[in-house]
Amino acid sequence: MSDGIAKLFRHLTAGVYVIGVADSDRRNAFTASSIMQVSFSPLLLAISINPEHESYRLLCRGRVFAISVLRAQQRAVAVHFGTQSGRTVDKLASIPWRPGKTGAPLLVDALAYFDCEVVRDIVAGDHRLVIGRVIDGAIVSPAGDPLLYAQTGDLDMSAGLYPQEFC
Ligand SMILES: Cc1cc2nc3c(=O)[nH]c(=O)nc-3n(C[C@H](O)[C@H](O)[C@H](O)COP(=O)(O)O)c2cc1C
Repeated sequence: MSDGIAKLFRHLTAGVYVIGVADSDRRNAFTASSIMQVSFSPLLLAISINPEHESYRLLCRGRVFAISVLRAQQRAVAVHFGTQSGRTVDKLASIPWRPGKTGAPLLVDALAYFDCEVVRDIVAGDHRLVIGRVIDGAIVSPAGDPLLYAQTGDLDMSAGLYPQEFC
């Protein structure tokens, strides 16, 4: 593990999000920081997802996802969705949510949301880059501040995933 490279990558400014997925009446959600806008016309967002996640299994079947933008005060929500798998617990049972237009779950108390239909799923190293067309979205709370990934420390335990040196 290299603390130097892990710290360097935390300078790529990112928010913290909960990504909801659905396949008919089966739903799950996970915490994510690797999200970016990739196109204006059409409006496309890309998420980077570990294919080992339970959410990826549902994402492949349902081909929809919804992004809830977390507030600065919602670190506990990031912990809840980001440190346990939907394989062993129903993470949505204890958090208020509603289905978006796609059916994917949106957190009711988020800053904003984006509801997306999958258009591409690309192999990208040890993750998959899944691109979604935004079919709906809204700002829920205009005055709130977002939770920043850099403020979560090593909550996702990614520091151990960086190489010792660049190669
Ligand atoms: C702050 C934070 C950011 C994360 N970012 C991502 C991410 O961008 N992509 C990803 O695949 N996993 C990310 N994770 C890890 C998943 O949220 C975590 O492994 C989750 O338990 C997977 O849940 P699932 O198996 O129910 O799908 C992140 C976790 C945390 C705490």
